[in-house]
Amino acid sequence: MLKKTFVTVAAATTLALTACGGGTDAGTGAGGGSGDGITMGFAQVGAESGWRSANTKSVQDAAEKAGVDLKFSDAQQKQENQIKALRSYIQQQVDVIAFSPVVESGWDTVLKEAKDAGIPVILTDRAVDSSDTSLYKTFLGSDFVEEGKKAGDWLVEDSASTDGPINIVELQGTTGAAPAIDRKEGFEAAIAADPDLAIVESQTGDFTRSGGKQVMEAFLKNTPDIDVVYAHNDDMGLGAIEAIEAAGKVPGKDIKIITVDAVKDGMTALADGKINYIVECNPLLGEQLMDLAAKVVAGEEVPERVVTEESAFTPEQAKEVLASREY
Ligand code: AHR
Repeated sequence: MLKKTFVTVAAATTLALTACGGGTDAGTGAGGGSGDGITMGFAQVGAESGWRSANTKSVQDAAEKAGVDLKFSDAQQKQENQIKALRSYIQQQVDVIAFSPVVESGWDTVLKEAKDAGIPVILTDRAVDSSDTSLYKTFLGSDFVEEGKKAGDWLVEDSASTDGPINIVELQGTTGAAPAIDRKEGFEAAIAADPDLAIVESQTGDFTRSGGKQVMEAFLKNTPDIDVVYAHNDDMGLGAIEAIEAAGKVPGKDIKIITVDAVKDGMTALADGKINYIVECNPLLGEQLMDLAAKVVAGEEVPERVVTEESAFTPEQAKEVLASREY
């Protein structure tokens, strides 16, 4: 069953609606797997991280390649902006709406509006918590619980030969966002296997580098013995590294760091030994999204859930793949 569905956007100020890709008539639909003739409204979360920038590029490039007329908006991490964008796409009668919900809850009303207008919706990257899964056609993206679990499993194994308590601080993603909720859940479930592992502090850094740095500075002041940082994305982990170095400690040695994403900056820090383990979250969803959109607009059946295949990296593995990393 499709997981959560939710949408909201309203802020309005700098909602940037731009077009890219091969423009064609809205509302003409498309046939059999080609995006030609489709108009898609895409409501992006923002530009908060390296992951997000890579995801935006992937969607824009894939739209251009498929001949999809893409109307793109950046919600600046605000649900109200995203709801406003969705309403604008409904008003413009686009053929299909795709969006990555900033947070999980609060989307039913606007999703019903899209459904009543006969406009199919595709969730990408993040889920909504709506119980009415008929409000969207499919959800394309990662299994965030599994990502958190991989991070926790690595720590359990890495700590197996260590005696005594291990103090973990957690840098959470945006409060209420699916990846923040699910990565926490998966990690906690995995570390429950070792009673020595305990999360002693946990706060949101909003998936940004500056947020990660600021929260880590506070953790370092308040908590004397931090052994491990678990950051819900690379950017917050990179911010934490800055705070740890400024405090005169060595990231990756004095304090171990686990992150999620595997973007280039994160992988570079991993190869340098400043991060100890990264769980991959693949942002390159553009081509799959355009394929799904073409099918949905053509009235073809699509799977309710399309899960992205992902890996995880140690420093040695990062050194091997860094040069060929696409993002
Ligand atoms: O929803 C995916 C998450 O959003 C990425 O892991 C994070 O970097 C981004 O901000």
